[in-house]
Amino acid sequence: MTSVSGADAVILVGGKGTRLRPLTLSAPKPMLPTAGVPFLSHVLSRIRAVGITHVVLGTSYRAEVFEEYFGDGSAFGLDIDYVVESEPLDTGGAIRNVVDRLRGDDAVVFNGDILSGADLGALVAAHRKAEADVTLHLQRVADPSRFGSVPTDADGRVTAFLEKTPNPPTDQINAGCYVFRRSVIEEIPAGRPVSVERETFPDLLRRGRHVHGYVDSSYWLDVGTPEAFVRGSADLVTGRAPSSALPGPTGERLVLDDAVIADGAEVTEGSTVGKGASVAAGARVRGSVLFDGAVVAEGAVVERSVLGVGARVGKGAVLRGVVLGDRASVGAECELLDGARVWPDVELADSAIRFSSDV
Ligand code: GTP
Repeated sequence: MTSVSGADAVILVGGKGTRLRPLTLSAPKPMLPTAGVPFLSHVLSRIRAVGITHVVLGTSYRAEVFEEYFGDGSAFGLDIDYVVESEPLDTGGAIRNVVDRLRGDDAVVFNGDILSGADLGALVAAHRKAEADVTLHLQRVADPSRFGSVPTDADGRVTAFLEKTPNPPTDQINAGCYVFRRSVIEEIPAGRPVSVERETFPDLLRRGRHVHGYVDSSYWLDVGTPEAFVRGSADLVTGRAPSSALPGPTGERLVLDDAVIADGAEVTEGSTVGKGASVAAGARVRGSVLFDGAVVAEGAVVERSVLGVGARVGKGAVLRGVVLGDRASVGAECELLDGARVWPDVELADSAIRFSSDV
């Protein structure tokens, strides 16, 4: 991997994470435990690995918790600055809002909810070689119809930002990571919400500026939904997603301090069992995330699900594709499937059945 000098990293972490509620009621999305550490640790490890040490976090929702955990960054080999928006400024406004903190001529901007294996050194090198105003990491995906697409010409220049359509002309999508020339950030209007995707980028193209694409097809995942969040966590544990921030031995599962897995319990497919959590005999936990202190009773089945801090799953209950908020409790023999979400502290009686609904 090529190392990068003379660039700052900016990470946007101010979103409310509504699609991940109720987990994001108690912690902002980039702070959710993912393979045993806050999600943001994986992003920071990638930045550190390429030799960038100055990081600016653009915060808004639950701003204080970032600094409480990461401090000045020195424990992570980084120098972290925090900028707080009193009113959320959206992605472009958040980038403009940190410009005074930048020290180099280029800033690498990250959405704080993306897991990626793209070579950041190569991204910055492509930006500098092209002498572009902005360079976007464009990800090639199997099903581009689920996203807006971003075509490029033979020289790699972006030609358009297209809305979602059933038959997009390219499989390249905006991967949520950009290199900005500092002077271009100064051109973004200050003091009001601006969307970088809907306003800044199309405006740069209209004005004939050089917007470049760096196309890549390594690992990439936006963890903004519960399904993607559990998949990303499992991919980190099994090693499909790259990160040097993992807190312990991984493989089929990651088991944190003081967690108890009874004999005869199955914990597989990249599941994480948080500190002090427990899985009783005969239970099956597959591809799931158990936050600290979560409890899975005998014979229960938990697949592709997230159990919040101290959440409890009763004997023989079945959960597939479910989110339990902190301290929520599901009675014995309950069946929860397909996106059902249980709010914090809610107690579901034995044998309740819920599909795709909020409780
Ligand atoms: P949803 O509410 O579930 O859509 O999640 P979100 O609020 O995180 O929005 P989205 O996934 O579209 O945001 C992409 C990235 O930009 C995330 O890393 C957010 O934290 C960040 N972000 C979104 N809006 C703002 C904002 O107003 N200010 C800052 N600083 N960051 C933002």
